[in-house]
Amino acid sequence: ARKFFVGGNWKCNGTVAEVNKIVKLLNEADVPSEDVVGVVISPPFVFLPQVKAVLRSDFAVAAQNAWVRKGGAYTGEISAEMLINLEIPWVILGHSERRALLKESNEFVADKVAYALSQGLKVIACIGETLEQREAGETLNVVSEQTKAIAEKIKDWSNVVLAYEPVWAIGTGKVATPVQAQEVHADLRSWLATNVSSDVAESVRIIYGGSVNAGNCVELAGQPDVDGFLVGGASLKAEFVDIIRSAL
Ligand code: 13P
Repeated sequence: ARKFFVGGNWKCNGTVAEVNKIVKLLNEADVPSEDVVGVVISPPFVFLPQVKAVLRSDFAVAAQNAWVRKGGAYTGEISAEMLINLEIPWVILGHSERRALLKESNEFVADKVAYALSQGLKVIACIGETLEQREAGETLNVVSEQTKAIAEKIKDWSNVVLAYEPVWAIGTGKVATPVQAQEVHADLRSWLATNVSSDVAESVRIIYGGSVNAGNCVELAGQPDVDGFLVGGASLKAEFVDIIRSAL
């Protein structure tokens, strides 16, 4: 069985005071044990050491990005080696906001995934179609191309979580229906079975992201191929605790 996974992507939000407040809330929350759900919190880089220092030990932290190769003369970037040096175990790569706004291509994201894994990071790799692509019937094509780019560059999937985040559902309040999410997750799993291996298809966690909240998480979590969530807006609020509890 695949262990449920809940990630909180804080995106580019927060102040020192707000970070302390949300960490306090998380630290005091009553949630299922680590054997039942893996919780990973992803603050902006500048708050990572602060959060890591005070966050409960059964939750882990993730960076929201990492440079594509070894550090050096890359002003403004943060390398995978630095994250490892600071004992940050996870990184989110290929988020649609970076794909769209910073023009990160499938290939560039795949290179980042491969490099981060090679340095010992665990990766939340994000994929997902735009509304235009969905309406054109291109969803499976788009997400399998995004996954294929990664599959061509890595062999070991044991440290990868795939996050299916339809762009039209992110920050819009238009959550995918449980049927829509399940359909894409199942398609991705069969793509992995055909193109990578049945072992990887069975074991990789495929989590859903896009307008997940306390009200819709339970039904989504009940889908057989939905192994958890990547939560944006609601991860900054008390309802994130309810989303973690949907693992049960
Ligand atoms: P929202 O939960 O705010 O829609 O964001 C989802 C997301 O992009 C998580 O990475």
